[in-house]
Formats: sequence, structure tokens, C-alpha cells
Amino acid sequence: MPRISESTVREVNERMDALAIVGDYVRLENRGGRFWGLCPFHHEKTASFTVDPDKKFYHCFGCGEGGGIVNFVMNIDKLSYPEAIELIARKSGVEIIYDTMDGESIAEERKHGDALKDLYERVAKSYHYILTEKPLGEAARAYLAGRGMSGAMIKRFNLGYAPPDRRWLFDFLTHKGYSENFLAESGLFGKKYTSLSFFSGRLMFPIHNREGKTVAFGGRLLAGEGPKYVNSSESAIFKKRDNLFALDFALPEIRRTKEVFLVEGYMDVIAMHEAGITNTVAPLGTAFTEDQAKLLRRYADRALLFFDTDDAGQKAIEKGIMTCTGAGLDCRVVMAGGLNAGTDEKQKDPAEILQKKGAEYLKKIIRCGILPLHFLIVRSRTLYDISDPGGKQKAIVSLFPYIKIIESELARSDALLAAADAFLCDSMALSRDYRAWLSGAPAAFSPKGKNVTPVRLTEELFLLMTVVANRESHPEFLAKLRGALSIEEINDVNAKELYIAIEEWLRGGEAEGIAGIFSYIRLEPLRSFAMQKCGGEEFAFDAERLFTESLHNLRKERLEARRKQIVQKLRLLGNNAVKETEELLEDKMYIDRELQRELGVKK
Ligand code: UTP
Ligand code: MN
Repeated sequence: MPRISESTVREVNERMDALAIVGDYVRLENRGGRFWGLCPFHHEKTASFTVDPDKKFYHCFGCGEGGGIVNFVMNIDKLSYPEAIELIARKSGVEIIYDTMDGESIAEERKHGDALKDLYERVAKSYHYILTEKPLGEAARAYLAGRGMSGAMIKRFNLGYAPPDRRWLFDFLTHKGYSENFLAESGLFGKKYTSLSFFSGRLMFPIHNREGKTVAFGGRLLAGEGPKYVNSSESAIFKKRDNLFALDFALPEIRRTKEVFLVEGYMDVIAMHEAGITNTVAPLGTAFTEDQAKLLRRYADRALLFFDTDDAGQKAIEKGIMTCTGAGLDCRVVMAGGLNAGTDEKQKDPAEILQKKGAEYLKKIIRCGILPLHFLIVRSRTLYDISDPGGKQKAIVSLFPYIKIIESELARSDALLAAADAFLCDSMALSRDYRAWLSGAPAAFSPKGKNVTPVRLTEELFLLMTVVANRESHPEFLAKLRGALSIEEINDVNAKELYIAIEEWLRGGEAEGIAGIFSYIRLEPLRSFAMQKCGGEEFAFDAERLFTESLHNLRKERLEARRKQIVQKLRLLGNNAVKETEELLEDKMYIDRELQRELGVKK
């Protein structure tokens, strides 16, 4: 880390406006020449925190905290000394000079970063203008309206629309005088064809850094084929680990409440903010990372995980619990419909809940946080058959990794007791098992151990394997699969696991190429199976036909099963259940139509 020069530090101290700096965090009031506010370092109802703008000092008569303004920024933002100086320098318009030999190149880099940020601001503004004002943005506007997004949120989050014409941005920016070289390096254009925009025909979510500057974009597909979201890759000004979506907007409320809501999607964040729950953030296109948890720990004591109710969401909660607890954040799980709502629960994520049930309902839900251990226990019951002694053992062992990272010894032993309670077993025996597990004893303890479901090649697994094995040559298989069959519709455990692994791999930014998928597979025999078979011909020869036929068979099977159910229900319904009968008939008609279509495809 290069040293900031003495002269810069002096200038920062001279030039900074203590009231403006502190005023970014505390509302100050002038009373008799002194400035007073509620202390941000302890909880209080009457102001005992004061700032002296001339001496550039702060002091709290309540908790005794006090010192210089640099100190204040270090304490409140949990920054190192140089970081605090840099922040204040930026806010005070002081140019930073570094002491090292390559001070000049550092200054160069800063300048380049500032120029990049200006560029991103400008692009965000243009996208926003197109979305809100231009005929070109009409479809995107209609889409947002259909999802119940308010104008206020579109404005606050500076949402935009990237025109479908991939050359538009380049022409626009070169006209404004930007050089081709600078643009080529900006991350907004293709690597190979540097005049073609990376984002096109997408709804644009600007990603801000903590100071509120646009440093990247996420773009959501509105129509046609392709990944649902694409995100800017990392750059000189954008590091995913240091950032979360909407962190800049969320910080004041996170600081006030010491709590942060973590949701999965950009749309969910906006929904929560719309409902007034502004201490909400989301990861940036990838899974929530350890670094991001540590970042949140600086400001919050507790994280509330509010994820989708689908299987992938449940898995993400499990991971989120580990990541948060590991970073020292207390955590809670928020679930629409409560802990026992199945995957068929209709309200999926915060965005959907807000749209369907309104802000008051959303606010009610978030008050019911579930303890992580309870969540894990209930989940383990869905993952293992606990009527079987072996299954019960595995369910219990699956809790151990969480119990292990609980910080306080007392809480750990409480957790062991609760687990014994939940599974109706002897707490002493359970503690002994836990200690044996800790000392890394036998492999039989591992939930990924030997005698799990062996891999049988069902039609479902066959289909998923075809998608994975041909990922490179036929990327469209995945989109088709997702369009035709949801995770919930899959019965085979292994096929389901593979489906989830693919989804998680996608969320993780398709790390490590196709091989990355394997690392997301948690069921051992399946992992070896997939790794072994993906290289061979079995699923690759005549791939197109394999895929189409397999998907067709499954769709047909599903539709026929549903049709049968409906017919049965219809038979059982009495004569006066007119409305229900009507609905069922309508369902049946839909299914018949779909079946007809499937048969058409086959020919
Ligand atoms: P979701 O699919 O839940 O999207 O993915 P969403 O933001 O809730 O949007 P709607 O409500 O379906 O319109 C959650 C997050 O995962 C990342 C994005 O960050 C997204 O917000 N993601 C998802 C990707 O990066 N790529 C994808 O293809 C899908
Ligand atoms: Mn979602």
C-alpha cells in the first residue's frame, strides 16, 4: 500500500468541512454555536453528540466517544487510516499525492478510474433517458409497469434500457468525443468487436459503489433467447467482493438498525426499498460471498436472508447461513408462508409478494425471522428420510457443520440440545457423536457418505446429462429445458440435483467453464457419474435428436399425468361446485392444447 504524502494529509485536515463530513451520517442541529445530533455510536433518544466545526472535533457526552474527524470516519465506516483520508480527500476536493516512487502511476490510475466512473454515469443517464422518455423504451416501460414498478423506483435506481442496436452506444459515445481506445477498455463493449455494445435490448440496473457512483451494470433480458441476466465483469472500478447491489442506498438504515436484509435479485431489492424496507441489498449476479458477508459485518450485527422459496433458493439460504455465521453475523431466515410452506407456495420472492400482496403484508412477513438452526432442522427432514435410522443419523450430522461455527460455547451446546429435541434422541449420545465428528472420525458420518441413492439413468437424468454434456456445442439446450420444465417438476433425486447444480453454476457466473458444474454437485455418486460420462459419446452423439426426443417424452409424461389428475378430480366433484369445475375444465383444455402441440413437435 503506497503511503499518502504528509502534504496531502495536511491539506485534507485544512480543507475538510467537519459539519459536511459528519453530516453525511448524523443529522446535526445548531444550538448556541455548537452542533448537536443523535450519537451514531450508541443508542439514544436525546442528542448528546456534538461537533466543533472549528477545532474539527467530535464528542459524545453519552458514551464518551470522541476525537478528530478522520477518527470519526474510521470508526463509523470501519475504515483504515489511509482509507479514511482518501474518502475525506475525495469529499473535500483534495488531490491525493502518494509518497512512493510510482506515485505518479497511482495518480494516473486514479484519473483513469475517475474517467471511467464519469463514463458509466453518462451511459446510465442515457439508458435511463431512453427508458423513460423515448419511444424505443416503450416495451421496457410496459414490462416494468406490468410488474408494478413505480416511477419513483425507476428514478431512484436510475433504471434504463439498452437499445437493441449493438452499435448505438459506440456511435453515441464517439460522437461525444470519447476515444476508441478508452471505450475498448471500458468493459461496456465486446472484447473482440470493440464497437459492439455488451448490453443490448436489456433492462439495465446500474450497480453503484458505496459512494453512489455507477461502476457496473446488470442487464435483464426482456424478450428472446439468452441468459436472463448478464453483468459487467470486474474492472478497475468494480470489484464484486467490495460491493452489493444497493449498498449505498441501504447503508443509512443498516447503520440505524444494525440489521440487513439479503435478497437474491435486483428486482427483489427494489421491491423491498419500495415497501420502505431500505436496509436491503443483494449479491451481484454471483452467489453471496464470504467477503461480502465480512463487508456487511462492518455495519450490521444481523443478516436476514429472504430468498426465493424454490429449491435453489433453499440451498442458497443454507449456504448463506454458513457464510454469515462464519463472518460473525447473527442471522435469521425470512420465509413467505412460514417454514413449512412447500415449494408449491405461490408467493415466490419479495418482488412477487409486494406485487401480489402489497407493502403491509411484506412488512409483516419480515418480522418473523426463523432461527438458522430451526431452518436447517426442517430442511434436513426434507432431504433425508428420518423414519429410517440411517437417514436420521445423516439428518443430524448435516447440522454439525453449522453447530461447529457457532461462536459462543453456550450457544453451541444449546444447539446440540435443540437438535436432540428435534429428532427425539438422547442428548448425551448426540454430543458424543458431535465430538467424534469433530475429530474427523469415520467416513460413515459424512452425509455425502457411501450408501446414498445409487445413480440410475432415468429419463429425467438422461435429459439433464444431455444438456450438460453438450453445453459447449448446444448452449440453447439449457434455455429450452428451463422454458419447458421447472425444477419442481422433476422427480428423480439425481436429476434434480444436477438441475440445481447447473442453476447454481450459472448464478456463480459459469465459473471454470463446464467443469465448474461438477463442483456444485453434492451427491457423490452423481458427481463421479457426471464427470465420467460427460466426456464420452453416450450423450453427445446425435445430440439434437437425443435432446428433443427426451424433452418431448418428459413433457408428454408430465402433461398426461396432470390430465389424469384433473379427470379424477372432475369425477369426484359434485354438481354444485360450478366454479371449480369450470376451472378444472379450463386447465384440462390448456393441457390438451399443450399435448396436441407436443404431438405436433414429434412429427
Ligand atoms: P432471479 O432469476 O431470481 O432474478 O435471479 P430477479 O432479479 O429476481 O428478477 P425477476 O424477478 O425474475 O425478474 C436472482 C439474481 O441472480 C442473478 C441476478 O443478479 C439476479 O438478480 N442472475 C440470475 C444472474 O446473474 N444471471 C442469470 O441468468 C440469472
Ligand atoms: Mn427472483
